[in-house]
Formats: sequence, structure tokens, C-alpha cells
Amino acid sequence: MKDFSKYYTPQKIAASLMRFVDFNDNDSVIDICCGKGNLLFAAKNYNPSLQCFGVDIADINIDWCKTTKKDGREFALGAKRKYTIALANPPFGKIESISYASKLFVDKYASINSKRIEIEMLIANLNLLKEDGILLIILPNTFINGVSYKKIRKTISENHFVKTIIKLPPNAFSPERINCSAIVICKKKNNENQACTYYTMNEKFNISNSYEIKHDNILQGCWSNNVLYEKVDFKINRGNISSNMFSEKGIEVLHTSKKSSPWQPSLRYIKKGLNTSNSIIAEKGDLIISRIGSSAGCLCLYEGDPKYITDCLMLIKSPNKQLIKHMQNLNLRSLVKGVSTPHITVSDIYDLYNSTYNNL
Ligand SMILES: C[S@@+](CC[C@H](N)C(=O)[O-])C[C@H]1O[C@@H](n2cnc3c(N)ncnc32)[C@H](O)[C@@H]1O
Repeated sequence: MKDFSKYYTPQKIAASLMRFVDFNDNDSVIDICCGKGNLLFAAKNYNPSLQCFGVDIADINIDWCKTTKKDGREFALGAKRKYTIALANPPFGKIESISYASKLFVDKYASINSKRIEIEMLIANLNLLKEDGILLIILPNTFINGVSYKKIRKTISENHFVKTIIKLPPNAFSPERINCSAIVICKKKNNENQACTYYTMNEKFNISNSYEIKHDNILQGCWSNNVLYEKVDFKINRGNISSNMFSEKGIEVLHTSKKSSPWQPSLRYIKKGLNTSNSIIAEKGDLIISRIGSSAGCLCLYEGDPKYITDCLMLIKSPNKQLIKHMQNLNLRSLVKGVSTPHITVSDIYDLYNSTYNNL
């Protein structure tokens, strides 16, 4: 498995993110996974009056700011002082050593149930802030648009003000393709109806477009580009039958399969009698897209009888000829990313479609 703790923020990206943080002179700035101090360095360069503090579990070699060698979560839980600004590009991934969930996911965060280190670091950072403090944190895009993070997004937006999202380009951590966004969160929820601004950074690290996400959408956990979605006249549905419903015999369901050319979904079975009332059904003429595994991004025009699809597939219902052609021409496989499992997301397909055909 890749070690995602070593993807230091490239200095150019760190520098270009600083303008999204409202620094005041002499603010105290902390990074509890500071690494070589790239984010702190960008902040200090942006405003030399800032007082910077770095924490890292590994040896730290920064001589221009005060540093502490410690687990960032432990540091946050034991900290006596609070900071005005927190900057974070934490490690990503499932927790393999000590979890601090029981101490971090309490009070207003009690509904959070996650075994990922970046989520523990997110809450640790929020704990470290003064009441009017600001956090800039880099997280995987799945945190912004993944269905499984919706509840956490709701909890965050119910308690804080999600001010800005900056989608970073896939080459941000080149040569790896790690799809991430920087999120600016104000600890105090003082702007009741203020929209969140969503920016996209292009591969040259310039901001290529921006739009607003309504406060109501943010509150509902819809943090991805609803506005762009309104510009397309098709909907991508993700299946919702999971592999733990499989059985040896029963009702046929379509599932992902290995990469092949042309690609076709495979066949599985689920027990009769399971609740499938909200399940997605593929019908002749629908476009099926593999979402996960070696075939992520492969697609086919379905020719068979109506069948349920699993959560490893996505579906576009009744596409017209032009949409089929457009989709077939898109390089969906270029969207494949993933910390441990290769996958593509619905919002990445919308983004690619819009940037290719709607000139956004
Ligand atoms: C992705 S790097 C980012 C470093 C720096 N913030 C930047 O943006 O360049 C993550 C850093 O987190 C550190 N780290 C990993 N686990 C940690 C933990 N539990 N507590 C504190 N630091 C940790 C790693 O040593 C690494 O330096």
C-alpha cells in the first residue's frame, strides 16, 4: 500500500492556496502534520508577521518555527492554547495504528463514525482553533463528493462555516494522481446564509473557474458542483446493491468485471425476497459504466433484459445518440484514482463532460 503521509504540498500549490485564508498580522498558525513545513513556509512568506508552529510524528527539520515531535491528534487533544489558523495536508488512509476516535468524535462530532486518519485529523484541527479560527485542509475529493462522507459533511456544515472549496488538479502531487481539494472552514458558524465558493485549479495551478454553492446545499452535505450538474440533461445513477447481498442463486444482477475490450458487466445473483424497491435497473439502451476495480471507467451500451445493477456500476438511462457518442469519446479511464482501490466518481464524470462539451 502506498504511504500517503509523504505527499508534501508542492510549494507552488501551497503558495497559491494562501490567498484563500484571511490572515491577520501576528496570527498564530499551526500545522499538526507539518512534514517539511511547506504549508507553514507558504503562510510565513505570505505574511512574515505570522507566528508559526509545526507538529509531526516524525523528526522535524525546520529551524524557523517552533516545532514539537508528537502525534498531531494527541497534541490537539492535550493543547492548552488555541490557534487562529490551522493548515493541514494530513496523511490519508484507514487507521492502521492508534485511533483517537473515542476522544475526538465526541459532543458535536459524536455522530461521526470513521476509521480514516484524515477525518481524525480534520476534527483534531478544528479542536485546536480559537472560536474565530480558520482551517485550510487538503482532503481527498471523495470527502467532498462521496456518498459515504455525506453525514460527516452535514455534521461539519451544521457546526461550522464551509467557506471555500478549491478542487486541486490531478497533477497536484505529480507523478501520483491523487485527486484532492483544499477546504477552508471557519470554526464559527456566523454567516448563516452565506454561500460557499467552489474553485477549480487547473494543471498550471491557476484558478480556471468558480461558482457558488448555496448554503442550503452545503448544509445538506451537497458540497460538489451542483451548479455544473444543472448544465447537463442526463443523470448518472449509481447502483445500490452491495456484494454482501450476493448469493449463489436467485435474482440476476449486473456487477463490474475485469477490464476487457469491448467491456461487459458480469452476472451475479441476490437472494429472492430482499428489499430492492429503491434499486437501479438497467434496461436495453442504457449506458453502463464500471465504477471500481481494474475496469473503472470502462463502459458499454446495455443490450439485455432489465436487471438490477450493483454499487460497482453506474448507469445513464435512455441516453440519446449524441450523449452515447460523447460518453464513448471521453477518456473516463483518465479519471481513475484511489488510495487503495482504483475508482471513478459520478462528479468527476460530470466535471470531465462539462469541461469537454460545455466549455466550462
Ligand atoms: C502529506 S504530508 C504533509 C506535510 C505538510 N503538511 C505539507 O503539506 O507539505 C503528512 C505529514 O504528516 C506526518 N504524519 C503522519 N502521521 C502523523 C500523525 N499521526 N501525527 C502527526 N504527523 C503525522 C508525516 O510524517 C508527514 O510529514
